[in-house]
Order: sequence, then structure tokens, then C-alpha cells
Amino acid sequence: GLMFDKASTRTRVSFEVAMGRLGGQTLFLSKADTQMSRDEPVKDTARVLSRYLDVLAVRTYAQALVEEMARWASIPIINALTDMYHPCQILSDLMTVKEKRGTLDNLKVAWIGDGNNVAHSWINAARILGFKLVLACPPAYTPDPVVMKGCGREITLVTDPVEAVQDADIINTDVWASMGQEKERGKRLADFQGFQVNASLVSKAKPDVLIMHCLPAHRSEEISEEVLEGDRSAVFDQAENKMHLHQALLEMLVIGNK
Ligand code: CP
Ligand code: NVA
Repeated sequence: GLMFDKASTRTRVSFEVAMGRLGGQTLFLSKADTQMSRDEPVKDTARVLSRYLDVLAVRTYAQALVEEMARWASIPIINALTDMYHPCQILSDLMTVKEKRGTLDNLKVAWIGDGNNVAHSWINAARILGFKLVLACPPAYTPDPVVMKGCGREITLVTDPVEAVQDADIINTDVWASMGQEKERGKRLADFQGFQVNASLVSKAKPDVLIMHCLPAHRSEEISEEVLEGDRSAVFDQAENKMHLHQALLEMLVIGNK
């Protein structure tokens, strides 16, 4: 099952195709069409859906909803993006890095822009795998201190994008206004000036630096057209790898469980 309460192109389609490639079926459930939109409790929904499904991916706003679903469900619950995290994205992004560089060893990743859900999952990945991550964010848009808590010296926060990309193997960015932040868009566009990933910034990194963006992208905002479409850009391979990674994840969670 795929229960989504926010828009999606890549995550939804890649999960559906991945399950089909494994010989399974998917049910897409817009949360608004379920009884959850009429206040059926998460704990009831989770137990009922566990009777029908083998696995459920949830895309929503509150991280607490996914965690409550996981507490009550007897099937695996996959976080398909919340306001706080986007773990599947980083799994497939790391697959892309490994494919392009051969290894995740001695990796330096720069994150430029908003300290958002995707940044939070990069922080978690760096903490688990031990690679170097430097995040350059405007002061009001740094990652949540809850996520930063306990981070070692390998994960650093700066305010200067040029400092962050020095010797970077990967430059990563994402939109300045995420889903649910539409009303802040005007203010954010002003606050993020100077944080665009463009040719001038990329020239300060290693010559073979890989440019990553989970997509959807806003050209001329967080990333220039030239860089997004340039030969260092990995964005469409990232998008493809979501399908392969989701296939592996479903195999592990569903078939591997039986
Ligand atoms: N990268 C990503 O999660 O894209 P969608 O919002 O299209 O699923
Ligand atoms: N940070 C973005 C990622 C979209 C895949 C958002 O949450 O809208």
C-alpha cells in the first residue's frame, strides 16, 4: 500500500513499478480518500491495513504519524517522506554515489541550502556511515537541533556555500520551500539569495564533483539550469535508482520477511 498525503511523481511511480517488477501489486491510497480524513484513529487504520497488506509506504506531514503507524502496524511501514525525513531518497542517492564513484569511502558531501527533511536524512546517513558532510545553510534555516544532536566532527554546519564545497565529491541541494511551506515561498526566495548551486560555486569544488538534487527542482532558484543539465549532474540517474532501490527495499522487507 502507498498512503500519500502530499504530491509525488518519483516516489509513488518508482514504488509502484518496483512492486510490479517483483510480481506484486500496489494499492495507491490518497489519505484524503480514506477514513483517516474523517478522524479514524491512526492506531485503528494501522491495524486494519495490516490485515490486507504486506507493507505500507506513507508520505505525510508529521513524522509522528508515520511513527504511530509503525507502532500499531504488524507489517513494515516505510517513510516515503515526512516534514522531518526522506530516508528512501538518501538510500537511493547513496546507491548513485556508489555507482559513480565505486565506493562511499573518504567521501565529502556538501549540502547547500535548506536544512530540511532531505538534509536531515543525509545527516542520519553520514552519522551511520561516517562520511564527511558539510551543510551551508542561512542561519534561520539550519537543520533541526534534534537531528544535529550527538553529531561528531564529521558533520559540520557553515554559512558560506564556498567553504562547504571546498574539496567536495558531491554537491547536493533541494528546493528552498518544501511541500507545506508554500506560504513562506516569497520570504524564503529572499532569505536564500547567495545559496544557489551555479557554475561559479561548482568551480570551487573538485573538478569531478557530482551534482545531486532529489527533484523536483526549481531552476534559477536553488540550482541553475546550466548546472542541473550539465555533465556533472546525476539527477536523472538518482531518479532511476529510486526504482531499483525501492525494489531491493521491498524484497528485503516483504520477501525477506517470509
Ligand atoms: N524525490 C522525490 O521524492 O520526488 P517525488 O516528490 O516526485 O516523489
Ligand atoms: N524537500 C522537498 C523534497 C521533495 C522530494 C519537500 O519536502 O517538498
